[in-house]
Amino acid sequence: MFLQKAWRTAAFGVYGFTQFTKSGFIEHSKKFKEEDMQIQMEGKNCIVTGANSGIGYATAEGLASRGATVYMICRNKERGEAAQSQIQSNTGNPNIHLEICDLSSVKDIRTFVSHFSSNDKPIHVLVNNTGILENNRVITPEGSVFLIQLKPLDNCIITDIHHLCVQI
Ligand SMILES: NC(=O)c1ccc[n+]([C@@H]2O[C@H](COP(=O)([O-])OP(=O)(O)OC[C@H]3O[C@@H](n4cnc5c(N)ncnc54)[C@H](OP(=O)(O)O)[C@@H]3O)[C@@H](O)[C@H]2O)c1
Repeated sequence: MFLQKAWRTAAFGVYGFTQFTKSGFIEHSKKFKEEDMQIQMEGKNCIVTGANSGIGYATAEGLASRGATVYMICRNKERGEAAQSQIQSNTGNPNIHLEICDLSSVKDIRTFVSHFSSNDKPIHVLVNNTGILENNRVITPEGSVFLIQLKPLDNCIITDIHHLCVQI
């Protein structure tokens, strides 16, 4: 047990050091190709969860600036609409859609999935970005641990849209 814990901690430490510190950045930057950033994405449907702020917002805006059709999944209508119009005006891309869905609710996710799949649109890019840091163990009204619901579980469910088979 002790050895296993020590091994896990060491492996995690080494992985973190090599991947997420300056040395990781330098290593990854060797494979970076500037031209990859110039790619155009007209006709591509992209879903970004948690798209009204932070990394999700930047991702949605980056995709929009390359001409993609972006579906922003946000839980709050006002914050979502503000981000949507900001992206439309910053990029000049009108094809930015807002979908209201609280990803901590399986019911909300089911409703979104069934509404989205009924449009029969292909999804080319899916960015499962949503996440929060919650220190306390919170149980959702549906009986899941909040953090497990929000990160791994919603990612699985949303990702299943790809296969149009939602089984929960
Ligand atoms: N920033 C970092 O240094 C860092 C490092 C490692 C990993 N990450 C991961 O990267 C992702 C984005 O991080 P961030 O820093 O950009 O976070 P952020 O600025 O807090 O943005 C999180 C986004 O997720 C949305 N969200 C939260 N709960 C939601 C729910 N139940 N349903 C729908 N949307 C919900 C938020 O919407 P509201 O505005 O409505 O709250 C917000 O738009 C997270 O998964 C995080 O774990 C970030």
